[in-house]
Amino acid sequence: METIQLNENVFIPQIGLGTWKLDDLEVAKKCVLAAIQSGYRHIDTAMGYGNEEAVGQAIKESGIPRDQIFVTTKLSNDFRGREETLQAFEDSLKRLQMDYVDLFLIHWPAPKKYRENYVELNNETYAAMEELYALGKIRALGVSNFMKHHLEELSVKIPVSVNQIEFHPYYADWQTIQYCQQHHIVIEGYSPLGRGQILSDPLILELASLYHKTPAQICLRYAIDNHIIPLPKSQTLERIKENLDIFDFSLKETDIERLRSLSSENGKIGSHPDFADF
Ligand code: A2P
Repeated sequence: METIQLNENVFIPQIGLGTWKLDDLEVAKKCVLAAIQSGYRHIDTAMGYGNEEAVGQAIKESGIPRDQIFVTTKLSNDFRGREETLQAFEDSLKRLQMDYVDLFLIHWPAPKKYRENYVELNNETYAAMEELYALGKIRALGVSNFMKHHLEELSVKIPVSVNQIEFHPYYADWQTIQYCQQHHIVIEGYSPLGRGQILSDPLILELASLYHKTPAQICLRYAIDNHIIPLPKSQTLERIKENLDIFDFSLKETDIERLRSLSSENGKIGSHPDFADF
């Protein structure tokens, strides 16, 4: 599996298993285990997904050494500021049954509960994450759902390595993507399959037939060819495998352009980071 360098010592695999909605712990464990057995070495979870325990258990049971699997979790919207961040992080580690995570993200920039003073609180939160980084408990720091303006508002000593945002052929925040790429922030794309809702698009079907790939594989390759790490979610064994089989082809520039032309504001499926109701 090819990797992208995040900082001096940390390399992130080019695709990861997304685990949002895998909230049945038995199902989550089975999927993560199947993914690792199929060759995934990157698992993306979050406090808010309620499945950290299952992710940790599957990684343990896989028999693959911990240092060969890249694990991300995220700070949920309930917690901000130094004390809460440190405590919430320790609780995550306990559920994951690990003594460090590879990547820790602030899940949303402006939670409803903290919207009044989110900038100040994000700065305090990020500083607490920097403390955890210095202790070796987090190997790379990042954010999720941060738009360009949220990144500009954040003061950091240790650079942001990753921003995880919604990305698929029907939606991309190109302004944020360009900003991140200029500032060496790696983008991870969530909902890279548009939550499965865009797979019968005529252009995606046409390209699937042209490249002898499935519509899902076209969407995932579209992310990779835009230098974005896709995090597809599936609880179907065959699809988990299918989603990894994207490293034997790439899309022509003209086809990437055609897919880009599908993206619009209306294509956004997830919540808007400034107005999310949670
Ligand atoms: P399931 O979990 O039942 O396999 P996204 O990653 O964009 O959020 O998309 C996840 C959705 O896409 C889920 O409903 C998932 O269904 C579906 N999905 C995942 N992989 C594939 C695939 N290879 N082909 C078709 N649908 C898929």
